[in-house]
Amino acid sequence: MTAEPGARSGPGPLIRALGRAVNSAVARFPWSWRLFRGPVRMFFDSVAAGWDERVRSDSAEYLMPLQAALDRLPARPVRILDIGTGTGAAALELADRYPDAEVVGIDVSGEMVAQASARAADLSSRVCFLVADIASFEEEEGFDLITMLNMPPFFDRVVALLRPEGCVVNASSYGDRTPFFTPRGLL
Ligand SMILES: C[S@@+](CC[C@H](N)C(=O)[O-])C[C@H]1O[C@@H](n2cnc3c(N)ncnc32)[C@H](O)[C@@H]1O
Repeated sequence: MTAEPGARSGPGPLIRALGRAVNSAVARFPWSWRLFRGPVRMFFDSVAAGWDERVRSDSAEYLMPLQAALDRLPARPVRILDIGTGTGAAALELADRYPDAEVVGIDVSGEMVAQASARAADLSSRVCFLVADIASFEEEEGFDLITMLNMPPFFDRVVALLRPEGCVVNASSYGDRTPFFTPRGLL
């Protein structure tokens, strides 16, 4: 399931071009992630403070593509994985929307996860944030919903972690102007 919004412009051309290049490489050639992992983590560590204010990550507009996809889910998920959770905007939205669900948010950036954990302190019984790279993330129980908001897809890992009949949402807050954007055909 994929969803894109309308007009918000998002980051500038340089960040967009770099993000698109990384996204395209990782989606097509997952082995290439080892080249990008260090720089991507450093970049997101460096922008974690102030991220929410800058992107307005809890605004209806930012989350609209995610919400639009969730509206189309065939069933209420019980275990949810949010990959590249950043400061936890999508994970917290999911926890709010599905109060009976357990939500796990993972991110390779420790600084992003620190921000997310601080936001979720009072939800710790059913929302947890982990510093983890999806490229090597293992989990036995599996998930019946996997979300990625503004995050490159690691298709093989998603397949490995998805329960039978599970759903995957790949959403882009700025449509095709999103740096980590995956075109429909590639999805
Ligand atoms: C553009 S930010 C989006 C954050 C959040 N989902 C949002 O929309 O506000 C992308 C996030 O993905 C994380 N990320 C990138 N590659 C990752 C990987 N292989 N495993 C886990 N997290 C990753 C980055 O650290 C960053 O926090």
